[in-house]
Amino acid sequence: MAAPRKFDAVIIGAGAAGLMTAIEAAKRGRTVVVIDHAKAPAEKIRISGGGRCNFTHLDAAQKNYISANPNFCKSALKRFTPWDFLDRVIARGIPYHHKAENQLFCDNSAMDIIDMLLDDLKSHGGELWLQSPVSDLEKTPEGFRLSVPGAVIECQNLVLATGGLSIPKMGATGFAYDVARRFGHDIVPTRAGLVPFTLGGEKLQYIEGLSGVSLNARVRIGKKSFNDGFLFTHRGLSGPSILQISSYWTPGQAVEIDLRPDINVMETLKERRRSTPRQHIANVLSEIVPKRLSDRILEAAILDGETRIADLSDKKLMAINTWLQPWSLIPDGSEGYRTAEVTVGGIDTQHISSQTFESALCPGLYVVGEALDVTGWLGGYNFQWAWSSGWAAGQAI
Ligand code: FDA
Repeated sequence: MAAPRKFDAVIIGAGAAGLMTAIEAAKRGRTVVVIDHAKAPAEKIRISGGGRCNFTHLDAAQKNYISANPNFCKSALKRFTPWDFLDRVIARGIPYHHKAENQLFCDNSAMDIIDMLLDDLKSHGGELWLQSPVSDLEKTPEGFRLSVPGAVIECQNLVLATGGLSIPKMGATGFAYDVARRFGHDIVPTRAGLVPFTLGGEKLQYIEGLSGVSLNARVRIGKKSFNDGFLFTHRGLSGPSILQISSYWTPGQAVEIDLRPDINVMETLKERRRSTPRQHIANVLSEIVPKRLSDRILEAAILDGETRIADLSDKKLMAINTWLQPWSLIPDGSEGYRTAEVTVGGIDTQHISSQTFESALCPGLYVVGEALDVTGWLGGYNFQWAWSSGWAAGQAI
């Protein structure tokens, strides 16, 4: 049996957070290896943002993250900011553009970001071992010992960067949770986040035929609300506003939906009854919402579209309004980890340093990225968390 390979740090998980940790540690002269069980590194970066990677959000701050400890993310986000990551993108000459609200995307391909990270790792002497599932991980007096096919590795520092449970088809596992548990850490219960809702029974029947209809909506659970795109699908509801609110949803909770948050629909209908009394209700309504939705609402309210609006009582107008403002429903479920962009919950931050990301229970053990109980909103916040937490750990190991 060959002698163990020795490194200052082993980083398990070649995603955004693991690569950033390794690059920063390697820059400081540490010997590092990033190991991953997948065939290719950073698969989630590759598919992110529709292939163009929404690599950060310029306003990323504590308020955009969900965690049992809301202050935990503050320090790292302040020490390695979205502007710091953008500086690297610019220095590398990667073309990028802004989308709504300071979301930054690559112009060409998410591969530009992956290539930048891999080149940085290599140029600072870091190693990357793919198709290397870990076995026999144990704590030693000097640090850690673990095995991968063909090698035993010894290291002082071990970094868990294996992400969350979303998209198991792409290699997501609960590896980080299992190791953290072994060393005494709690796991904040996990659930799928940034995920479409599914509907069943009558609710699904109601939206039948609306698949593909999109509009701007405000969705709300308690005090949390998002005003953004909304999409009917053949299985339920999706679009940015729904994905955002899904991260706050627990089964059985009602979601309030306003399909025209910018106007008071009831007042608008009454005003049209005064100003254009001879217009058919179908024509008036299709100016307010897309035609297919307008037809569906009239059908559900048992109204003939050719009725003149002047002939509709307040009660009838209210029946229309009920479908639009506000519309409350309890989703049957979500599409789950199969399609979720993130995992809400994860390794409890209680015994992790927010400065160094080292475990207080097991010196030398670090956790970064999505494996932690820190979940960002849709819009580049999750990659920023990966960069910031990875950068901070990389300064410490
Ligand atoms: P990440 O999941 O990226 O990496 C973990 C790595 O660990 C993987 O390479 C995996 O193979 C490896 N691994 C897992 N288990 C292992 C094991 N047992 N042994 C060895 N290796 C193991 N965010 C954003 O900010 N902007 C965006 O545009 C998008 N878009 C987007 C689209 C889609 C479809 C998804 C699913 C997600 C996004 N996200 C996003 C979220 C973002 O991708 C996510 O939050 C980060 O990739 C998390 O980075 P990590 O490095 O923590 O984990």
